[in-house]
Amino acid sequence: MTKALTVWLFGFLRWLTARAATDQETCSQHVVQTDYSELISSNSDPTVAPLVAKAFGQHGLGILAVRGIPEALAQARRELLYMSRSVALLSPETLAKYERPDLDFVVGWSRGREKFRGKVDTAKGSFYANALYADPAQGDPMLEAQYPSSTAEPAWPDADIGANLSGCFRDVARAMYTISYHVLRHADSVVEAALSQRRRRLRTFWAHKVRRRKRRLPLYEVTHNRSRLHVGRLLHYYPSVRQQNWCGWHNDNSILTVLAPPLYFDDDTGAEASAPPGAGLVVYAAPNKTVRVELPDDDRFLLFQLGEASQVLSGGALVATPHAVLPGASEGRNVSRDTFAVFVEPNWNEPLSPPPGSGLKDVYADEHASDVIPPLRDRLRKVPVDFAQFLADSVREYYD
Ligand SMILES: *[C@@H]1O[C@H](CO)[C@@H](O)[C@H](O)[C@H]1NC(C)=O
Ligand SMILES: *[C@@H]1O[C@H](CO)[C@@H](O)[C@H](O)[C@H]1NC(C)=O
Ligand SMILES: *[C@@H]1O[C@H](CO)[C@@H](O)[C@H](O)[C@H]1NC(C)=O
Ligand SMILES: *[C@@H]1O[C@H](CO)[C@@H](O)[C@H](O)[C@H]1NC(C)=O
Repeated sequence: MTKALTVWLFGFLRWLTARAATDQETCSQHVVQTDYSELISSNSDPTVAPLVAKAFGQHGLGILAVRGIPEALAQARRELLYMSRSVALLSPETLAKYERPDLDFVVGWSRGREKFRGKVDTAKGSFYANALYADPAQGDPMLEAQYPSSTAEPAWPDADIGANLSGCFRDVARAMYTISYHVLRHADSVVEAALSQRRRRLRTFWAHKVRRRKRRLPLYEVTHNRSRLHVGRLLHYYPSVRQQNWCGWHNDNSILTVLAPPLYFDDDTGAEASAPPGAGLVVYAAPNKTVRVELPDDDRFLLFQLGEASQVLSGGALVATPHAVLPGASEGRNVSRDTFAVFVEPNWNEPLSPPPGSGLKDVYADEHASDVIPPLRDRLRKVPVDFAQFLADSVREYYD
């Protein structure tokens, strides 16, 4: 009798807790995971394709984890994130040498210079450079003059931190970029499936003609065969003051963003620390529904996250992932966080427009974060628009 009562009570309590959890606006969800070696071998599509569709398709979070990346890359990422911390702890006078106010601080060092939705943001410091090339304009002075912030090489603080930051940055970025090719190939299949469904629903004479005349440029081709504008961003989040968000709600402008797993440090001792409870990446999955992204528990993985350029180029078949970074409850410790992102992007002069047979209303159709993010429909009113122009328009919307 007592035992039965205990079992019943236990069950009732579990039911109560579960109810409380669903009433809350924030829940946790494991990120969809796929295996690196299966991803890169072209003949295992049957395993990988459904996982990418689950991550990037209509009800997905818009984030995919690729597990089991090469040990050498995981090791280089650790070294790079230690360098990130060293850079961020240089004196303000030293860091000023690496700022480019003439380029709106989007090359080299940037902290407290950009406004985020009207407020000066000092929560993080960034070091930006082209992910792959020291000279993306390949010496063309016309391009350098027309797209200065997309083509300039920063001065590197290698001597100040006594490490080969420039080399390590590009080694890690190139490896991350290379893997993005395989993810994009699968993302293109997700787009194809959605677009052919759309065409079936709308089987008119004209839709048929349009399809015949023009081919959709696959995302992997826009990035890997037509672009030299891929940006690496080393990020240091300083210990959070008054639990202020480390990074507010936003979408990336990229086609795909590749993220290295973060390292946390006890800022007072410099020792590696565990992530404070509740810290890390959150996704705005639906109106008023925030999902904490649960990551794999080793660090041999990379995250792939959708940006707005893929939303435009896919006619809304893919939707950019609205996300933020929370500091969690550091419980009296001063905890900082370092990470590295590679923005895989269209070239500066790539015209962005929805694919043949789709329009701007398809691009806007599944936007669900307009209460926290300036909606695309306010920033993108006509197409085609050059990617560099789209970037400038978005930056103005967020930072002014
Ligand atoms: C820095 O790293 C790059 C890439 O690994 C390498 O090619 C270069 O020789 C290194 N430079 C120095 C000074 O160690
Ligand atoms: C496009 O880029 C990929 C990856 O770099 C390469 O394998 C392929 O040959 C390129 N295709 C063309 C048409 O250049
Ligand atoms: C989200 O929550 C806010 C504040 O609680 C509320 O005003 C708004 O109507 C909600 N939006 C939706 C779409 O439910
Ligand atoms: C955290 O940093 C602040 C400001 O530097 C310092 O006053 C405080 O003692 C630090 N807290 C701990 C637990 O070390």
